[in-house]
Amino acid sequence: MHQRVFSGIQPTGNLHLGNYLGAIRNWVGFQDRMETVFCIVDLHALTQAPDPAELRQNIREVTAAYIASGIDPKRAVIFAQSRCSVHAELAWVLSCHTPLGWLNRMTQFKEKAGKDRENALTGLYTYPVLMAADILAYHGTHVPVGEDQKQHLELARDIAGAFNRFYQRDFFPLPEPVIFGAATRVMSLRDGTKKMSKSDPSDYSRLVMTDSADTVALKLRKAKTDPLPLPEPGQEFEKERPEAANLIGIYAALSDQSRDEVITTWAGRQFSEFKKELTDLAVAVLGPIGVEMQRLLADPAAIDAVLDDGAARANAIARPIWTEAKALIGLPPG
Ligand code: AMP
Ligand code: TRP
Repeated sequence: MHQRVFSGIQPTGNLHLGNYLGAIRNWVGFQDRMETVFCIVDLHALTQAPDPAELRQNIREVTAAYIASGIDPKRAVIFAQSRCSVHAELAWVLSCHTPLGWLNRMTQFKEKAGKDRENALTGLYTYPVLMAADILAYHGTHVPVGEDQKQHLELARDIAGAFNRFYQRDFFPLPEPVIFGAATRVMSLRDGTKKMSKSDPSDYSRLVMTDSADTVALKLRKAKTDPLPLPEPGQEFEKERPEAANLIGIYAALSDQSRDEVITTWAGRQFSEFKKELTDLAVAVLGPIGVEMQRLLADPAAIDAVLDDGAARANAIARPIWTEAKALIGLPPG
């Protein structure tokens, strides 16, 4: 089976360290080995009722973040989801193979819908079906994401299986989640039990990819810790000290070490000192990316040209697969 990497990020602003370490950074290496398709999932962003002008700007911002992080638009396909109508059409077809019970289990829906279930939007509910369509439209085989997307990936596999069984053909490959690195789940700088997210009301909860060195220093200085020094090797501490565990994980990811290596080096030392080195590391990694993002964003026409080219290439992959799917289903061609 042909191998193809597919992943995406919502253009909902505030791209943060978790998006970088949990997702984008892990995409770069695939470009040399496989065909890669990286999407800006603007239709998914509609579940958050975005302001139109902000949505337009955020699509460019995610595009700039991909390129500044090392995704090469000549090799990888970089495009906006809404530019290829196969996503929405296939999502409908797949929804006709997705039992309600499967969607009822999705923890992200439960978190985002909150208590007032009656007023939650159906788009938020069927979000994972559209995500399955994103991947399957390209016969995606490898999907590098952060850990929070694992359940959605399992659902995508189940939906692909249900479709294949119904039409008695191995039409969609079952996509594999690829979750790796020391920071598959970066937590909030203010609360080590909550994941770092674009929508947290506190700006101090996240490092944003375009933060200046001063802002990174300030946010890390203010990052929550406990009064104890760094843990000793072999010590169990993650559960009782989630903030300490989070900063150690971030340090490990930024310095390309394992958590154990970081703990061995820093055992018994103070967090104030650790945070200073962490700041230097974060600035060294994020600084150049943020600067490059700003440079790219200063030329929106060039970004739009990348997205035009990506849209054409995305359609060239997805259209023939969709044509074949329609024939299998018994829908008229064209
Ligand atoms: P989103 O911000 O929900 O559009 O997520 C885009 C990508 O970033 C997905 O692959 C997520 O799994 C990943 N991601 C989001 N937040 C985090 C986090 N706090 N830690 C690690 N990965 C994350
Ligand atoms: N749901 C993903 C997130 O919030 C974004 C996404 C949409 C995605 N479609 C995708 C990720 C397809 C990987 C593959 O992070």
